[in-house]
Amino acid sequence: MNKIVIHGGNPLNGTVQVSGAKNSALPLLCATLLTGGDHHLSNIPQLRDIRTVFELLKTLGAEVDCSGDSAVINADRVESIEAPYDLVKTMRASVLVLGPLLARYGHARVSLPGGCAIGARPIDLHLKGLAAMGAEISLDHGYVEARVERLKGATIYFDMPTVGGTENLMMAATLAEGTTVLENAACEPEIIDLATALNGMGAQISGAGTDTITIEGVDALRPMNHRVMADRIEAGTFMVAAAMTRGNVLVKDADPVCLEAVISKLREAGAQVDLCEDGIRVKGAEEILPIQIKTSPHPGFPTDMQAQFMAMLTLANGTSVIAENVFENRFMHVCELQRLGSNIRIDGKQALVEGVDMLLGAPVMATDLRASASLVLAGLAADNTTEVSRIYHLDRGYERLEEKLLALGADIQRVAI
Ligand code: EPZ
Repeated sequence: MNKIVIHGGNPLNGTVQVSGAKNSALPLLCATLLTGGDHHLSNIPQLRDIRTVFELLKTLGAEVDCSGDSAVINADRVESIEAPYDLVKTMRASVLVLGPLLARYGHARVSLPGGCAIGARPIDLHLKGLAAMGAEISLDHGYVEARVERLKGATIYFDMPTVGGTENLMMAATLAEGTTVLENAACEPEIIDLATALNGMGAQISGAGTDTITIEGVDALRPMNHRVMADRIEAGTFMVAAAMTRGNVLVKDADPVCLEAVISKLREAGAQVDLCEDGIRVKGAEEILPIQIKTSPHPGFPTDMQAQFMAMLTLANGTSVIAENVFENRFMHVCELQRLGSNIRIDGKQALVEGVDMLLGAPVMATDLRASASLVLAGLAADNTTEVSRIYHLDRGYERLEEKLLALGADIQRVAI
């Protein structure tokens, strides 16, 4: 077990390279189950969740050959259609094999993911959509059992935009008979990246990135050859780190098109944000201004950036209001930020963050992926020493975070406990 130890106070300066996006690489790797042959994927982030999905693909019978940030996946001989509880419980995105397996084999058995630290996170909308496409869905000892002769195109309206639901049904519909229309679909950039890769495989998808996606089913697909997009949440995390340490950082490969809400909120908080040829430069201001944030599906403010902004706003000159509208339990970092001397009050879905002059270093505990990032950011700005434990949460979604921060001038290290 490891922890991260930070001596705060150093402004961050320099250039940092963003890795490939976790939340795009996961569905892309699941999409390789849609057809045989050698699928080539590059710019894959080296993360715990990626190793889990490799494990899952191997469990299903696929061959996985990875070197550095590239991988060749061959799903010619898928011998099992079951995603086991032991893997799904460690990474709920495993449910994204459901659509591809059902579309290709007419049968899939996937463990229900169960609860999560940030919310109940049911998959009812995934199942409702597959049932609308003709699948017989039943629950058996904690597993979703899905069967169908061949999926049929359908018009599916999502009660609420769901990233995973849109991805699962979009993949399933590529091999369905006829046309599928997904309405009130999620518009996240990762969905555009997935649709681009699927169209490269011979799928016929239009409208990805809008709330109405149309998929004309085809009889066969060819292997994928795709480069994973840059991670907008990792990029956003470094942008906030630069702002709250009053630093000056170029975040290489950060794409402003994917970060509009983040850029506008950083500017509102007083930071200087410049769009450059090869990325985004953030210069922190002397004073952090209080702001209001409401998380919502893309293009709204991303819930995956809420905790990082909260860490920054603990040092604002005034009171900020943060409303978390996507997940019902995503304020777990508040208690830990309070341990660092912040002044935060939770009122239902809202957190009132009263800025303080200084955070005080202390031992804190990570509770989920983005909460752990917010504690590292707070430690960078706090006086003295902050120790963040349970960093296995961090390793799920950030590639070598402490090394990248060290290269920007932070006094940070990973130590064994
Ligand atoms: C994706 O999760 C991301 N994960 C999450 O990132 C991200 O927070 C989330 O989208 C929202 O942007 C991956 O891409 C692997 P949803 P997902 O389905 O697909 C409810 C991170 O930090 N809902 O869009 O699970 C659900 O409970 C992670 O990297 C249903 O009620 O999110 C939630 O309240 C955390 N029924 C809301 O919709 C359903 O069938 C949005 O969930 C599906 C979802």
